[in-house]
Amino acid sequence: MTAQIIDGKAIAATIRGEIKAEVDDMRAKTGKVPGLAAVLVGDRKDSQTYVRMKKRACEEVGITSFGYDLPGDISQEELLKVVQELNDNPDVHGILVQLPLPKHINEEEVLAAISIEKDVDGFHPLNIGRLSMKGRDPLFVPCTPKGVIELLDRSGVTIEGKNAVVLGRSNIVGLPVAMLLLHRNATLTICHSRTPDIPAVTRNADILIAAVGRAEMVKGDWIKPGAAVIDVGVNAVDDPTAKKGYRLVGDVDFDSAKEVAGKLTPVPGGVGPMTIAMLLRNTMDGAKRAYGLS
Ligand code: GUN
Repeated sequence: MTAQIIDGKAIAATIRGEIKAEVDDMRAKTGKVPGLAAVLVGDRKDSQTYVRMKKRACEEVGITSFGYDLPGDISQEELLKVVQELNDNPDVHGILVQLPLPKHINEEEVLAAISIEKDVDGFHPLNIGRLSMKGRDPLFVPCTPKGVIELLDRSGVTIEGKNAVVLGRSNIVGLPVAMLLLHRNATLTICHSRTPDIPAVTRNADILIAAVGRAEMVKGDWIKPGAAVIDVGVNAVDDPTAKKGYRLVGDVDFDSAKEVAGKLTPVPGGVGPMTIAMLLRNTMDGAKRAYGLS
């Protein structure tokens, strides 16, 4: 059996088209467009790339992006001041502080300082708290987890009643995606570094979400035949034949997995484009709320 490859790039392009139409509609009705502020602290190359991609995606759909490139040695107080200014700016509907932050910065305090109405990453403790409870709607859901669910929905995967296994328990992906699967009535298992026999657990998964950050860890024989496998990992591995000397692979060993899975996302071109599409979605939704259009 060969898996159906879930084309995240194509699905994300469809979503960006939907959002562009909504931006045009908002402009026509109010004369306004959504605005996203992207705050980058320091000079991590990966973070610079992610923020650049996010800003470019905004511009493509007509969302205004405000870039804040701050020095790596900025003080906690200065960073909190920038967040406060953005909270007060009526043209900004979404505030994104790219993670990870430098070690001397108290990340928890910075994320808590973002207005929950502008918390398009969904990382504010109130939004995460609401996400973690039954019947409490967060204003925003974190982008990558939201993108994972959207990929499943738009690929015709039923979640309700299925065994869903999440590999990883990070604040950004593992934990929130687990909450979303639970709210959609999956039977949920979370595996992590202390789980004794992970393959024995994953072989029961109808839906398997890999978000551990270990290159090609999930092999074909870890997968239940026909399962839907969503690979959130982005890992650089040395490759002397590649132009940059490395290539990107997921947490799933694609070649062996595609022989067993029913549906499978590639890396790149699976979850990555969906994260950005969901950021645009959240920014649009924030702006609609601000202008009374939702
Ligand atoms: N770092 C890795 N993923 C993310 C994300 O989705 N949002 C932010 N702000 N930082 C990240």
